[in-house]
Amino acid sequence: MASNKSSVAFICQSCGYQSGKWLGKCPSCNHWDTFSEERLVSASPSTSKRKWVDQAGPDEPVAITSVTMDIAERFPTGIGELDRTLGGGIVAGSLTLVGGDPGIGKSTLLLQVAGAIAKIAPTLYVSGEESPSQIKMRGERLGLLSDNLLVLPETNVEEIIRHISRIRPSMVVIDSIQTIYTEDLPSAPGTVGQVREAAGRLLNVCKRSGIPMFLIGHVTKDGAIAGPRLLEHMVDTVLYFEGEKGSPFRILRGVKNRFGSTNEIGVFEMKGEGLREITNPSEIFLSEKPGAVSGSVVVACINGTRPLLVEIQALVASTNYPSPRRTTVGVDPNRVAILLAIIEKRAGYHIMGEDVFVNVAGGVRVEEPAIDLGVAVSIVSSFRDVAVDSKTVVIGEVGLGGEVRSVQQIETRVNEAAKLGFKRAVIPKTRVAMTGIGGIEIVRVETVSQALEAVID
Ligand code: TYD
Ligand code: MG
Repeated sequence: MASNKSSVAFICQSCGYQSGKWLGKCPSCNHWDTFSEERLVSASPSTSKRKWVDQAGPDEPVAITSVTMDIAERFPTGIGELDRTLGGGIVAGSLTLVGGDPGIGKSTLLLQVAGAIAKIAPTLYVSGEESPSQIKMRGERLGLLSDNLLVLPETNVEEIIRHISRIRPSMVVIDSIQTIYTEDLPSAPGTVGQVREAAGRLLNVCKRSGIPMFLIGHVTKDGAIAGPRLLEHMVDTVLYFEGEKGSPFRILRGVKNRFGSTNEIGVFEMKGEGLREITNPSEIFLSEKPGAVSGSVVVACINGTRPLLVEIQALVASTNYPSPRRTTVGVDPNRVAILLAIIEKRAGYHIMGEDVFVNVAGGVRVEEPAIDLGVAVSIVSSFRDVAVDSKTVVIGEVGLGGEVRSVQQIETRVNEAAKLGFKRAVIPKTRVAMTGIGGIEIVRVETVSQALEAVID
């Protein structure tokens, strides 16, 4: 069925949905006016994939017990926070997609990685966005100049592959995948067809040569890697580089990792001389916490193996409008809506008619239910205008009945608080015995009301 004849299709530039005719609205992702006409080369992706499969293993099924394992060969990048996010270093032959908003620091991060590895072996930095002199200027500022760091201004994927096979670098950075194109397709660089095809060819090189590769991808306003969400399925690892505008802190978050957990995060600070790793994030995130201000509460979350203390800020203000505003930054707005209903119904504060704003300080995003109790306490603290003691940490998930539920790794969280000099921890009442926690008073609570009594009344 597969033929070399190229055919034409209309492809949604947002999600990659393919249609035989032009459509105004994409039936897959519901975006409007995203279809553009692209020519497809039907033969190349399937044959190239097949070649790799043939080389990688036998065609016959084998018993899982007799499969010989090639232990994923990893090497550290020299940047600890990145290694942590990757699950312990770069895996040979892996393809990693690094997404993030323009200007967040993706090029800076990967130039630093390429520069760090170049101390040991040659690395190749391919840029379709900046000229070699621009890259050199940045490299100079970052103190990374070395004969082993090779830069290549190129956007043609066949040329890039030719250089890779000639130089055989120890790792490759492609900045960015949206600028790379293949001559075999007539559509413009950045279209779904081009991005998918270029990434597919690079993937093939990656797997055949064992050279690890990083693709930089721009992210659209609604958070998807521009155009091809399809790329996320092709690559081994997807990392997002995020941060709030105006905040120097950057978080590298794994959203997919074939070689490790996606819970770990890496924390960086953008400085004049590049990205600096932050190995004690709790301290940094709490460094600007005001003393006794109502609405400010410290909570403890866990990312993979590392506990992280962050400050939740709430502001509750009266409004004359019939539908009050609910705005959240860094926490799930639906979760906050549920907590407001619980506070109203179970704790008896008439809060539903108020404007409520909740923010996580430092531009961190927290998705764990373990911060529920802290968020609820911060809202009531602001509503009543009573400050919570700044040396108290609040931990617990809240159920619809107003009950406080247990959370994972409570000891790790409380230990982190104790280490940072906290005096009191409000935690769920569970059977877990807690031992060896230095100098921190433990207050166990069963309901939201009990927690509020303990810290606000
Ligand atoms: P960049 O890596 O170009 O972002 P991206 O590739 O994600 O678009 O980083 C751009 C921003 O980082 C720019 O606004 C300047 C800032 N920056 C620093 O503050 N210090 C530095 O050492 C560097 C290289 C950049
Ligand atoms: Mg860039």
